[in-house]
Amino acid sequence: MANTKLILFFFAFCFILLRSTAVDIISVDQKVTDDGNDTIDSSGEVFQMGFFSPGRSKNRYLGIWYMKILPRVVVWVANRETPLTDTSGVLSVNSIGSLVLSDGTGSVIWSANSTGSVGDNTTVAQLYDTGNLVIRNRNDGDPTNFFWQSFDHPVDHLLPTQKIGFDFKKGLERYLTSWKSPDDPAPGNFRFGINNNGYPQLIGYNHSNVIFRIGPWDNVEFSGLRFFQPDQSFIPDSALNKEEIYYRYSVPNSPVVVRLVLSSEGVSQILSWNDKQKIWASNLNSQQDICERYALCGAYGSCEGSKAGAGGDRECSCLKGYEPKDPKNWKLGNWSEGCVRKTPFSCGKGDTFFQFIHGKMPDTRNSTYNTSMDLQQCKTACLNNCSCTAYSNIDVRQGGMGCMLWFNDLYDIRDYDGPGLPFFVKAAASDASSRTKRTVKVIVPLVAVMVAILLGVFLKCVRRNRLLRKKGITDVKGSVRDNKREELDLPMFDFVIIARATMNFSLSNKLGEGGFGPVYKGTLEDGQEIAVKRLSKQSTQGLDEFKNEVSVIAKLQHRNLVRLLGCCIEEGEMMLIYEYMPNKSLDAILFDPELSKTLDWPMRQNIICGIARGLLYLHQDSRLRIIHRDLKASNVLLDHEMNPRISDFGMAKTFTGSETQANTTRVVGTFGYMSPEYALDGTFSVKSDVYSFGVLVLEIVTGKKMGRYYHSEYSPNLLSYAWTLYEEGKLSELFDSKTLESHDKSEAFRAIQIGLLCVNTYPEDRPSMSYVVSMMTSESELPRPTRPGAYNFKSSDSMTDPLTKTWTTNSISLSDFGPR
Ligand SMILES: *[C@@H]1O[C@H](CO)[C@@H](O)[C@H](O)[C@H]1NC(C)=O
Ligand SMILES: *[C@@H]1O[C@H](CO)[C@@H](O)[C@H](O)[C@H]1NC(C)=O
Ligand SMILES: *[C@@H]1O[C@H](CO)[C@@H](O)[C@H](O)[C@H]1NC(C)=O
Repeated sequence: MANTKLILFFFAFCFILLRSTAVDIISVDQKVTDDGNDTIDSSGEVFQMGFFSPGRSKNRYLGIWYMKILPRVVVWVANRETPLTDTSGVLSVNSIGSLVLSDGTGSVIWSANSTGSVGDNTTVAQLYDTGNLVIRNRNDGDPTNFFWQSFDHPVDHLLPTQKIGFDFKKGLERYLTSWKSPDDPAPGNFRFGINNNGYPQLIGYNHSNVIFRIGPWDNVEFSGLRFFQPDQSFIPDSALNKEEIYYRYSVPNSPVVVRLVLSSEGVSQILSWNDKQKIWASNLNSQQDICERYALCGAYGSCEGSKAGAGGDRECSCLKGYEPKDPKNWKLGNWSEGCVRKTPFSCGKGDTFFQFIHGKMPDTRNSTYNTSMDLQQCKTACLNNCSCTAYSNIDVRQGGMGCMLWFNDLYDIRDYDGPGLPFFVKAAASDASSRTKRTVKVIVPLVAVMVAILLGVFLKCVRRNRLLRKKGITDVKGSVRDNKREELDLPMFDFVIIARATMNFSLSNKLGEGGFGPVYKGTLEDGQEIAVKRLSKQSTQGLDEFKNEVSVIAKLQHRNLVRLLGCCIEEGEMMLIYEYMPNKSLDAILFDPELSKTLDWPMRQNIICGIARGLLYLHQDSRLRIIHRDLKASNVLLDHEMNPRISDFGMAKTFTGSETQANTTRVVGTFGYMSPEYALDGTFSVKSDVYSFGVLVLEIVTGKKMGRYYHSEYSPNLLSYAWTLYEEGKLSELFDSKTLESHDKSEAFRAIQIGLLCVNTYPEDRPSMSYVVSMMTSESELPRPTRPGAYNFKSSDSMTDPLTKTWTTNSISLSDFGPR
């Protein structure tokens, strides 16, 4: 106890000397013991060092933790492999200036092995506010001059400003090793550090097996990394030279406490402390989706994972010019065999490259790099070496600099929507030209099958609706009445209740990523399941959408609209709480090769009819006139009976009185679902939603994505294709015979025809939703659709370049895209 006082005295002394860089010290004649609450605090009282027992263990360890954060998070452990079994531990600086930990008998159980100044009392140990424990000369004016520092010997945490990687001068490699378990800080199975074979990259291992990989650093960000910035001031930084290779991050002047940890289960996470709510929020997680698993898709395979949002595709595809090595297994979702070249390289003359944009770069362990070459030299170098399989820039700045060449098989590529350097994959030139033809051949029969399905759906829809008509109408009336009765004030939920329901927004509860933040599943204390949409505190982008959604949907109630239970606004956190939809979103089922088989014809029919009724309610039957503006498969959720519920009203627009059309300078929505006049002109009306509905109908019936259906830019999209087949009287070619066989074709034909009517180029030619519903529920003769508002966006330029007038004239002729 006397030591503590002594230390306090030195605290004052050093504070003056070093001006708050560091403080509490142990010098040669002082000790920290484990016989009471003897601890050392850093000067700003950020970190604290002392003895502790982890979890259920009785063993004693010397460690460093956050002084003011509970439960205690230990960021560094000295004697992780040599615990004390009692409270006899003593930490001191020995006569040669090393920090030593001894047990009751006086024998040394851990030592920093450093050598300080011998023979005088100038060597001291100090704990800095960064969490770094250093041994240095007390009289040295340079606080960055150490004999030893704990930052060079990381355990499972990487703290801000701490480096991970190599220091060749000191002969150091700094990497993280997990704890064995929460009760035992001894080195566990997992390791995370820089691998400098080829271009350096961060890799996570289980023993010696790679389990995850962070793509190479392009001097602005890591390739393929989805990272939610915990704070604007989060600054990553790196070095790559003869003396050092490292990555580190810092959060200068930020009040937010940030840490990177490798858990005892092998998950690497960046967490930030929310002091108001007393929880650690996750900003980055090495297991955030299936595509983070190392080389899931094998050689030359690309993982598309969470691209489609919650419960998305989860599928691998082969790179262009490559095909599955074992097609049978590949189809079954067994991708580990990967892909092989369709045609061997011709080495020089006949080879070409495919550009891969927005991808996570392949594993760089089989690469070489040169910082002075440019992209053209890089390409030539790759063409000239037969075992080179890809190339790219290495530095994204100044439009791209440097050259990286990959040799042999390419692993661990993922397709993700994000910025970053493109890379170029080599393939035989013959595969480049043959590809388009091949695609068309495959697609024609597929489309045919789908049209057939569509038709089937419609007939069922009609039949079902005749039965349901009465019921449906009463439903709509009923909900209008409800709205009038209760002027809905949105219930407010307590943050604590939501945090508890979602297990502190744990990763296992995460359903996906919405437009402005993550969505979690939760269970309230009474057992009710909820979905929580969380707007990130720092995101200003989603704020307007959030407010909009609250104001729009709070007033709505319909069996085909998702129900908002309440919201939570606390300490800058904003959350919307919805009914949980056990069957997730339509796209997750519709576009999944396996799950889509469970969607039989009556279900598809019911979904189409439900969406139509929901939309009709928005457009006409609620007290407000609401245009959704972002109707698409991923915004249709399915309840436990597979009834559709329209969701995501973040972009919805409310109209009053007689207003029917408006103009916006900010075009929001999703390509493929946007009507031409809205995408090009910014004009939107209820008819823009009708257009999106038409696209959705075609997708539901065919099970194919509008945007993704055709790979070549010369191929038509789903709309023009369906229209061509309709014109030629070959609609049955659109359908899958398997799904359709037991169904009445004329139903599906009718469905397609209604879908095509909805995607008419001119808004005035599209039916209103009430007409759509009435067409669906009757068997009257349908009008003939005209050529749809089919368009291909070749680049984002078309968004800023108003092609409006030329567009709506028939300047785009279908034959331009035709399959022949
Ligand atoms: C110090 O040296 C001993 C003996 O060489 C070694 O067992 C121990 O791991 C070293 N300690 C540290 C912190 O490097
Ligand atoms: C990088 O490329 C340049 C130009 O081709 C060459 O002169 C230089 O030697 C290369 N550097 C290394 C380290 O290979
Ligand atoms: C191709 O590059 C690899 C890796 O740099 C090298 O080992 C090999 O000799 C090169 N082959 C030719 C033909 O230049």
